[in-house]
Amino acid sequence: MTGTHPPLASAVQSSRAQVGASMSDAAFTAISGLAKSEAGLILPVGKMTMVQSRLRKRLLAIGIEDFDSYVSFVSSREGEAERKSMISALTTNVSHFFREGHHFEILRNQVLPGLLARARRGERIRIWSAGCSSGQEPYSIAMCLLEAAPDIARYDIRILASDIDEAILARAEEAVYSVQQISGLPEPLRQRYLLTGPTPDTVRVARPVCQLVSLRQLNLLGQWPMRRPFDVIFCRNVVIYFDTATQAGLWPRFHAALQPDGWLFLGHSERVSENAHALFTSIGMTAYRPTTAVAR
Ligand SMILES: C[S@@+](CC[C@H](N)C(=O)[O-])C[C@H]1O[C@@H](n2cnc3c(N)ncnc32)[C@H](O)[C@@H]1O
Repeated sequence: MTGTHPPLASAVQSSRAQVGASMSDAAFTAISGLAKSEAGLILPVGKMTMVQSRLRKRLLAIGIEDFDSYVSFVSSREGEAERKSMISALTTNVSHFFREGHHFEILRNQVLPGLLARARRGERIRIWSAGCSSGQEPYSIAMCLLEAAPDIARYDIRILASDIDEAILARAEEAVYSVQQISGLPEPLRQRYLLTGPTPDTVRVARPVCQLVSLRQLNLLGQWPMRRPFDVIFCRNVVIYFDTATQAGLWPRFHAALQPDGWLFLGHSERVSENAHALFTSIGMTAYRPTTAVAR
């Protein structure tokens, strides 16, 4: 069949050749400026190769031949949808089931007993996975809830799982993972909460787990429409991509979004910054509580 459509083949080839062209410094500066203003993402010059390779796919997808034209397009009003796709391409979505297992130990042993006692008294319990990526974090939390209380569906307990990236939320909604992606899941949990997936090397998370999780698109830099506070917030491996000023702006907001006796879990290389040291007290490895709760 090669050569059947020479004009199309040569058009694709010439477009590949053009897209292969390097990104100018000006284009990189404009793209990193947009990534910061739209999503808080910091892209230092050292990430230029990564940015080029991730965005090359976008240029090919929409038929734009060079990065300067791409910058003009994503900066325009007509380029709004592509701006979202650009942010989606620039976010890092790596996640695992039961990542940073010490947080799940704290959840099981120190947090859930109290939350379940309150739920059994009819209270409303809310957990937020902020920057949930493809869903492994909220589904791990949901499995912990089911392990602690198999009748959890009777109670008013929900997990909000949010992310800026609609494409990755669609993957979370699907709840289908490759066999490699479930390597962190202990065998008994696989038996109880995973079903055969749509293809031989995939699995699907079972309904009782998914039903505890509500997925929603939310930019942490924008408005947070949730009115009532959370009992637990997981925001792990997200603020590491933000600069210190953006991080500093988030801690008082997380504090306000938490119950006075709540819990905040961050990623292993993240810390509550100095401006919020009075608000939060560290309870060991990147686990925090509002200082008022600890002082009681
Ligand atoms: C590395 S993943 C972390 C996933 C999970 N929390 C974990 O620790 O495994 C970071 C996620 O943060 C999301 N993210 C980045 N900037 C964001 C923003 N401004 N608002 C909301 N989510 C954001 C990305 O889309 C990505 O899915």
